[in-house]
Amino acid sequence: MSVECFVTGGSGFVGQHLLAHLTATGHKTWVLMRNPENIERLKEQVGRLGGNPAYIHAVEGDISREELGLSEADKQCVSSAAVFFHLAAQFTWGLTMEQARAVNVQGALRVARLAASQDIRLLMVGGYMVQNLTHLASIGVDNECPENTNWPEVYGRVGGYEGSKLESHFAVIRYMQEVGADYTIVHPATVCGHSESGHIPEGQPLADLIRNLALGRFKAVPGSARHWLPLVSVDYLVKMMTCVAFDPSMANRQVLALYENTPNLQAMLGQLAKTLDIKAPRHHVPIGLLKWLLVIPGLATRLSISAESLNFIQTQRFDMNDSQQLERKYQLAHPDMARTLEKTVRHVQGYLPNRQVQTSQNPAGR
Ligand SMILES: NC(=O)c1ccc[n+]([C@@H]2O[C@H](COP(=O)([O-])OP(=O)(O)OC[C@H]3O[C@@H](n4cnc5c(N)ncnc54)[C@H](OP(=O)(O)O)[C@@H]3O)[C@@H](O)[C@H]2O)c1
Repeated sequence: MSVECFVTGGSGFVGQHLLAHLTATGHKTWVLMRNPENIERLKEQVGRLGGNPAYIHAVEGDISREELGLSEADKQCVSSAAVFFHLAAQFTWGLTMEQARAVNVQGALRVARLAASQDIRLLMVGGYMVQNLTHLASIGVDNECPENTNWPEVYGRVGGYEGSKLESHFAVIRYMQEVGADYTIVHPATVCGHSESGHIPEGQPLADLIRNLALGRFKAVPGSARHWLPLVSVDYLVKMMTCVAFDPSMANRQVLALYENTPNLQAMLGQLAKTLDIKAPRHHVPIGLLKWLLVIPGLATRLSISAESLNFIQTQRFDMNDSQQLERKYQLAHPDMARTLEKTVRHVQGYLPNRQVQTSQNPAGR
């Protein structure tokens, strides 16, 4: 069965793979683009990722504008979609609360309003931290009564990106419940490259981590032996997203897309370092101390680490029962993570500045 879909964030990392998956399976897809003149480049990329570019059509818009800034004709086009996939976000560290809210919270609500007004299922991408209830409590999010949360204080503790992803999660659910509209939310772990090609764009958190390791900036492992950075491959993620989006029984439900056997951070850095042919850091540094050190002017820039990114390294284990049931239902399995990480590193090596890479033969990185 092929249906029409509307995608926001289609030019981003996850969005490109989603477009490839949707169009390879015959779905005509409308993509919201702030710069529709880039559609040919996007089509070429989707073709390289295994999709069918002929099924992709751009509509001009921006989620920070009322009604996404869509023309009447484009609103008509997207109204034929069976699902709105909402992925667009300002995904960067250092955002002010105002910047993050304008796109990640108000923008998400605009997409939700448009979907609800046309009685179309909304598939929203959240983030796995929303299911870390200990973390939510520690940063002041009231999970039972989210409207009691003092959001400016939460933003102050975790930064613009994470604060806005959490706020938008609760705001969209509340809105969709008020108007009786259908939504489904997928919460990805940190996304790693494609399990076959290793494809991951520069600037993605995992690509930055690999780059920092390759450039010898990791002097110690943040956290303890219990700390981990949960991962999910981009191909598993987009398959899970499409399965739940078209599954009527997933209306008003949420699911984690996370590989629970992701090794702890030290072992993961060890695997990445082996592929990079460098020494892995062995000693640990407490995350609190690292955050404190990063306040020193210039250090965060020199080490290319943002204190905001450190919140995603944690000790929480998650209840994966719902995800596992869905995996059985959809016959979906995580790819081999060690191999996926190796491919991801190889892909990142393709855009590393060669002369600076620190190898075991070239410890100074010259
Ligand atoms: N990647 C991860 O590790 C990860 C983990 C958990 C959750 N997520 C979530 O997954 C989603 C996709 O992440 P990603 O890694 O694919 O992000 P990404 O590569 O940074 O892509 C972001 C996308 O959002 C679009 N966008 C930004 N501002 C917009 C606006 N005002 N109006 C319309 N489009 C706008 C960008 O379009 P332009 O081309 O115009 O810039 C781009 O297509 C996000 O919601 C993110 O929070 C990602």
